[in-house]
Amino acid sequence: MAPKVLISDKLSEAAVQIFRDRGIDVDFLPDVGKDKEKLAEIIGQYDGLAIRSATKVTEKILENADNLKVIGRAGIGTDNIDKEAASKRGVIVMNTPFGNMITTAEHAIAMMFAVARQLPEASASTHAGKWEKSKFMGSELTAKTLGVIGAGNIGGIVCDRARGLKMKVVAYDPYLSTEKADKMGVEKVELDELLARADFITLHVPLTDQTRNILSKENLEKTKKGVRIINCARGGLVDEAALAELLTSGHVAGAAFDVFSEEPAKENALFGLPNVVCTPHLGAATTEAQENVALQVAEQMSNYLLTGA
Ligand code: MLT
Repeated sequence: MAPKVLISDKLSEAAVQIFRDRGIDVDFLPDVGKDKEKLAEIIGQYDGLAIRSATKVTEKILENADNLKVIGRAGIGTDNIDKEAASKRGVIVMNTPFGNMITTAEHAIAMMFAVARQLPEASASTHAGKWEKSKFMGSELTAKTLGVIGAGNIGGIVCDRARGLKMKVVAYDPYLSTEKADKMGVEKVELDELLARADFITLHVPLTDQTRNILSKENLEKTKKGVRIINCARGGLVDEAALAELLTSGHVAGAAFDVFSEEPAKENALFGLPNVVCTPHLGAATTEAQENVALQVAEQMSNYLLTGA
């Protein structure tokens, strides 16, 4: 019998075709991921579950997943999956670490420009017919120091683009060798040095026990006055309440956040503050990236279900 896969999030339909072409029986039910009861009720029929970030694969869901062999995350972060519970049941968790890295890095760069020049506020003011030309004084990026926390796949691309913008790049990443940093044209530094030197700070690490609250109140207070902070990685990396206080006091000049400690973010300490640019977790939201991750996850899951590889 052909393996059965459930797609429970809004995945590009290109994935459906791949599963079909590979002889896999696929159900495309993009709204089921948000309906915990329904998902728990039907998950038992499936050998594979393909998701993005809306489906939360909890221990409870997994308890009903009698036939499940693989969960494929079309994207990078697997923090919406209880990996420990999956591993206890012998369910493999796979992601697509490369499909959306360029798109996410580009969003971080776009957010850096947006916060440097107050683009959303200037745009809203112009739409309102105010023509407030002297209100929106910006900051040039050339020759400024960008502090990159995490210089892996996405952070590495951000470093490259920032160097193209003639910024000086310092990176904090325990996994980055000095040789690799030299090749990338960035300076490897410790976190405290990055905090003290950076004019802009951008985060590109997953949320783990080691990275949670990496920009804590204490660390935020070590930053240079006038710093601007960009988070397109994960909510929970930055103490948002402490950042809000530092924005209000004027120590931090601006922030651009795509991710929040609670999502969907309907309320947040950063909302409504001046020079805070917010987007609703759009880091991977381009046609190209969504096509890439959908195709990749479908290929990987098909290989695993059909050949065990
Ligand atoms: C990812 O982890 O791939 C990104 O944050 C995008 C997403 O979750 O949709």
